[in-house]
Amino acid sequence: MYYKISVIGSGNVGATLAQRLAEKELSKYVAMVDIAEGIPQGKALDIAESGPVYGYDTQMLGSNTYEVIRDSELVVITAGMPRKPGMSRDDLLDANTRIMTEVCQNIKKEAPNATVIVVSNPLDAMCHVALQVTGFPNNRVFGMAGVLDSARFRTFIAEALQVSVEQVQAFVLGGHGDSMVPMVRYTTVAGIPLAELMDEETIERLVNRARNGGAEIVQYLKTGSAFYAPSASVVEMVESIVKDKKKILPCSVYLNGEYGVKGLYVGVPVKLGKNGIEQVLEIKLTESERNQLNVSIEDVRQNVEKLKTMVPA
Ligand code: NAI
Ligand code: 2OP
Repeated sequence: MYYKISVIGSGNVGATLAQRLAEKELSKYVAMVDIAEGIPQGKALDIAESGPVYGYDTQMLGSNTYEVIRDSELVVITAGMPRKPGMSRDDLLDANTRIMTEVCQNIKKEAPNATVIVVSNPLDAMCHVALQVTGFPNNRVFGMAGVLDSARFRTFIAEALQVSVEQVQAFVLGGHGDSMVPMVRYTTVAGIPLAELMDEETIERLVNRARNGGAEIVQYLKTGSAFYAPSASVVEMVESIVKDKKKILPCSVYLNGEYGVKGLYVGVPVKLGKNGIEQVLEIKLTESERNQLNVSIEDVRQNVEKLKTMVPA
């Protein structure tokens, strides 16, 4: 069990995540921080008061300042604007870069040994900001997106085949944007390749639905974006780190030559354990998969280029 896990941003994703972490008792303390006055304090107290009913002893802390995160082993950043209907994740770049910079300066000061999981969008670019501002080693700074995108793809496949979601294995490569690449060839249901169970047209339809999975939720909610599946996805990553489970999960990580990419955050399968990113798994790609991945990498690169004028070196 960790001593303290902190969640920055107590909005939809942050508060749901704090609740899920408390329920799992992965740390003695869960600290919540937000700029909105009273929100982290009120939500932390409310989650603590669920403990006697639900059966957990996790100690909840809520604050508008950062002393509360001191000595955290792990910090998750969910602070920032979510998108509204008609917006892409990239439309959030300016506002969220400013927020991310301020948040990361505080993490660097109060929790210099923490592993940092970034959730705020545009995800891959925000990971860059976090790496630059904290100056932490890149095995300790990475982003959540692939677990969520894969979970959406798995949900749609299970629904189409009327089978348990637990038996669908799939992962998504690339940036957390419309050009992400669900890896059909590596997708299996109870070990059976997906192509044996579905025709190409159905697979294509589900791939597109997964790519647009975030926008589909935004269209319904109108005032914000998804948070139940995103927070559940972060918990899977946190649990793998805290318990040193070494799960292979798709995460946005800083590539250093893997997949022919240097100095860019891209979603790829990695081994997650007590040291954060312990291994990047380089899988073989067909020409078509490689071309699709290149498009996605190019989208991330363009966002990072825009950042260069915004983030202090
Ligand atoms: P939300 O609007 O419900 O919550 C965001 C919170 O951040 C608010 O409570 C706000 O007061 C706080 N905040 C703003 N500026 C801050 C600052 N300087 N310091 C501390 N807190 C600050 O938004 P939601 O739905 O929780 O989403 C949060 C972010 O996560 C968004 O950028 C969204 O796009 C992203 N997201 C990413 C996903 C992924 O797969 N990587 C999935 C879902 C959301
Ligand atoms: C999502 O995919 C908004 O990035 C967030 O739901």
